Amino acid sequence: MTDDPQGSTLDTQLWKPRSVEETRALYSGWAKAYDADVTGAGYRTPARLARALAAASEDLAAPILDFGCGTGLSGKALAAEGFTTIDGTDITPEMLAIARSLGLYRTLSLSEPGDAPAPGYAAIAAIGVVSLGAAPPETLDRLLGALAAGGHLALSYNDATLADARYMAALAAASTRADLLSEAYGPHLTAKDMGSTVYVFRKR
Ligand SMILES: C[S@@+](CC[C@H](N)C(=O)[O-])C[C@H]1O[C@@H](n2cnc3c(N)ncnc32)[C@H](O)[C@@H]1O
Repeated sequence: MTDDPQGSTLDTQLWKPRSVEETRALYSGWAKAYDADVTGAGYRTPARLARALAAASEDLAAPILDFGCGTGLSGKALAAEGFTTIDGTDITPEMLAIARSLGLYRTLSLSEPGDAPAPGYAAIAAIGVVSLGAAPPETLDRLLGALAAGGHLALSYNDATLADARYMAALAAASTRADLLSEAYGPHLTAKDMGSTVYVFRKR
């Protein structure tokens, strides 16, 4: 039983271009049912990305930003890999409210689409965020811009995003400013037979 007003949002063409207003409305209406829906569909990307980022990180206590943290499933995955100082930000208040209830994040903040993250993080994780139907491709440039040299950016692209030339161009542009430390394709939503690629960059 879910109280997702749109039925199963996962079945409604989630991965297609939409405006910022539509994106916020979609996640605000989905917030209460999000965890049950994606967990029930076998959401594997957070654990895969958190593991890859932890493997690249020297200091798991250094502050890390969970960009597009949603309800906090991504923060839980980061904590499970040993990260201890996790801040979160998201554009959807209803998703953030659920993240807040976890008591897991050091700070949580509501952002506006297009906001650059605060500087000073050792790493930024964008788990299921920079993708068709959510944050646009130019987000990558802003995330890298907020990192100091040596900082890590870990992100995932799902199958629909991997097939989109604009997102792939943004990834190629990122590669000119940062070294790609790892890249691994694997399961995203197992019940949907969807995959994702997890990338970990170190800014030059
Ligand atoms: C698929 S959810 C992923 C949430 C969480 N990272 C996870 O793995 O469960 C996508 C999230 O991205 C947020 N989002 C969409 N566009 C965004 C943007 N431009 N900037 C920041 N967050 C955005 C949405 O509000 C939503 O919470």
